[in-house]
Parts: sequence; structure tokens; C-alpha cells
Amino acid sequence: NTVVVRKLKDGRLMPKFDPEVLENVKSLKLREDDVIILAYPKSGTHWLFEIAQMLKLGTTDVPVVSKSDFMIEYVKQDILDAKPLPRILNTHYRFHDLPTDIHTKKPKILYIRRNPKDASVSFYNHTIKLSKYYEYSGQFSDYLRLWVEGVDYGSWFDYVKEYEEVCQNSDLDILSLEYEQLKKDLINEVRKISDFLELERNEELIKDISERCTFSSMHSRKGHLTGLADGQSIMYRKGDVGDWKNWFTVAENEWFDEVYKEKMKDSNLKFVYELK
Ligand code: A3P
Repeated sequence: NTVVVRKLKDGRLMPKFDPEVLENVKSLKLREDDVIILAYPKSGTHWLFEIAQMLKLGTTDVPVVSKSDFMIEYVKQDILDAKPLPRILNTHYRFHDLPTDIHTKKPKILYIRRNPKDASVSFYNHTIKLSKYYEYSGQFSDYLRLWVEGVDYGSWFDYVKEYEEVCQNSDLDILSLEYEQLKKDLINEVRKISDFLELERNEELIKDISERCTFSSMHSRKGHLTGLADGQSIMYRKGDVGDWKNWFTVAENEWFDEVYKEKMKDSNLKFVYELK
């Protein structure tokens, strides 16, 4: 199991995570009509959860729930079993650690990826600066070196490379999405997700959903749900493409590009780092 979930400095798990739940993910019982969201942390999991919820329920008037209450490494099986249907589940687990039921029940899977520079900045802000999960006093430049090796949930590089292979070769019903593409053309991506989920939603609803799922709309509805730090939402921070430019020095950027080239040499993935 490659998951390193929010280990505190002294090796303890964050109190929020129950080791028993973490260990039982593989044997978790799924349903054919579940939708499962897969994402490396900070890549748009909450965003996709909201869109999928609205599409599945056929309305923008959905209950204001926290996606962590539907996270399979966080919530016990009996609690997940009692959730109203249809269920939108989510996880940051690697493919080989997912419930074996994905191969037999074949639920629809939404996978989202985000460029690593913005993902690392978002991760630092979430776990270090805002929520202060760790007793870590380093700056972003220190953290970036750790992040490249793998922090919570392991290496970003291993994560995206494994799912690249899955998206190409597995017989699972999986739609691969990009955070930056959602930023660029949300309405089109919502339509794509709707078609993939075989929902036949009308254009008016697609448009309404894309308007309700902008960063500012979600921030005002859900910003408080996942906690505040100094009055600022921990989860809905900035929601931009290219914020990394405010954090990476020129030298760090050059170093990162070299690391990327080496670690991703066998990959065909392309990431978008800015929107023109
Ligand atoms: P930032 O920290 O860059 O702002 P996840 O849900 O996977 O943890 O990802 C969180 C990131 O997605 C945060 O990035 C958050 O602001 C961003 N996000 C959440 N909802 C969004 C939306 N509607 N539009 C754009 N970005 C969004």
C-alpha cells in the first residue's frame, strides 16, 4: 500500500483518519450505479464532486454536503452503505489500492488531473499554511523538494503515470479530465461529463450547473464547510491556473522542469501551466 496519509511529524496518523478504514478500502463494497471520482489531492476533487452531484440529481439545488463524507478512505463501509442513492464517492488512492469491486461492478469513474506546479502550491497552502496539519516550519521552496519525492498519498509522478496507463489500457468505464480544461471551458466539460454519465441533461441545466460551479459560486456556498483559517477558506483558496508563478523562483522552475523531464520520460501526458 503506497498511501502515506497525513502522517504527523512523529509518525502518527492525523486523528481524522481511521487506520481501520484506510486498510479496508480494497474490500469495500461498491454498487454498479456508484460514480467514483479519482484525483491526486488538490487537483479538483471537490469541483468534480459538485458537478457530478448536480448532474446525477438533475438539479443545481443539491444538499450542501462535504465531499469528505463520501471519501472511501475516510468513511466506514456501513456509513457509506446508508447514504442516499445515487452515490458519488471519491478517493485519492492509487489505482492498485482501489476496491477490487471496481473490476466487477464497473462503476463509472471520473478521473481529474492538474498540472504539478499548481497542485504542489495548492497542497502546500492546504496542509502546511492554512490547516497546519503538520508541525512544519519550512518555506514553499523546502516543501517543494519533499513534494517532488511524495508527501501525503505518495508521489504525484507515480500517481499520474499509473492512471495514464489505466486510462489507456484498462476496460474500466473511465473519463479523464483536466483541471485546466474545466477552467477554460466549464460548460463544455460539464456537457462531456453528462454524456459520459449517460444522463441526457438539457442545455439549460448544463448551463446552470456551469454557473453554479465557478470558483466564486462554490466558494460562497461551500467555502466554510471544510474549515477556515484566519477567516479564509482552507479548501477554496484561489482556484486559478498559473498561481505557481507566484511561488516558484526562476531557478526552482528550471529545476522542476528537469525533474519533470526525467521522471516523466516514458509518459505522453501533457499539462497546461497557464491559460492564455
Ligand atoms: P487552489 O488551492 O489552487 O485554490 P481538491 O478539491 O482536489 O482538494 O482541490 C482543491 C483545489 O481546487 C483548490 O485549488 C481549490 O481552490 C480548487 N477548486 C475548488 N473548486 C473550484 C472551482 N469551482 N473552480 C476552480 N477551482 C476550484
